[in-house]
Amino acid sequence: MTTRWIRWSLPFFGCLAVAFFSLSWWFLHATPGQYRDVFNLVYRHPMGAFNRQPNQLLMDTVASITPGRALDVAMGQGRNAVYLSTKGWDVTGFDVSDEALRQADVRATEAGVRIRTVRESSEAFDYGREQWDLIVFSYAFAPIRDPAYIRRIHDSLKPGGMVVFEHYIGVPGVQSAIGTVPPAELPRLFADFKILRHDETTAKSDWQFGRRARIARLVAIKRGD
Ligand SMILES: C[S@@+](CC[C@H](N)C(=O)[O-])C[C@H]1O[C@@H](n2cnc3c(N)ncnc32)[C@H](O)[C@@H]1O
Repeated sequence: MTTRWIRWSLPFFGCLAVAFFSLSWWFLHATPGQYRDVFNLVYRHPMGAFNRQPNQLLMDTVASITPGRALDVAMGQGRNAVYLSTKGWDVTGFDVSDEALRQADVRATEAGVRIRTVRESSEAFDYGREQWDLIVFSYAFAPIRDPAYIRRIHDSLKPGGMVVFEHYIGVPGVQSAIGTVPPAELPRLFADFKILRHDETTAKSDWQFGRRARIARLVAIKRGD
């Protein structure tokens, strides 16, 4: 009996393992163009209806600050950009997925607000210098572990400008395009900023069907000159 179970289950778990590692390999090596194709498919599928509510950390954080110019990195279907716009922010958001941007524009129209949407990758977007009062990374696919990228983000903020970040905690040592961070890494990456809040916790992801996961959150501001 045991031998038969092993004979039947081995190919099954073998296939599962191969699928898992292939998917992980793809996620780690895919180009922005390949992510565009995948996310266009995901967002066009009925299962691609992700959370429409804005991110809680973002709502809590902006509740007490004066609106200005905001950038929503890898904005997806626009839940955060539309929210900020309804609160008086001048919002630009970008994403690689055309379908994400189309849906974000529809949501903005439904909410009676205007947002600027740009089809670009996190790697290639022109963040500019001293442009933004707020930059949002909500489960954003961006090279957040790259110190040169953090420097670009820093330089693109106005003095006193703020970063709000929330994403999954990723596997230590594995470089990833998908914007996750290893445990305890954010304070090191944002060492030049004044950190107002940093926590790592097991909680429901507010993007992916409320899946429970290890999540990192950070609120930091660019120090004044
Ligand atoms: C997990 S979703 C998060 C969406 C949104 N920020 C939110 O919280 O609802 C990740 C988004 O990253 C986008 N994306 C993937 N690779 C990207 C890249 N290289 N540059 C910019 N956006 C990218 C996807 O199209 C997708 O909309």
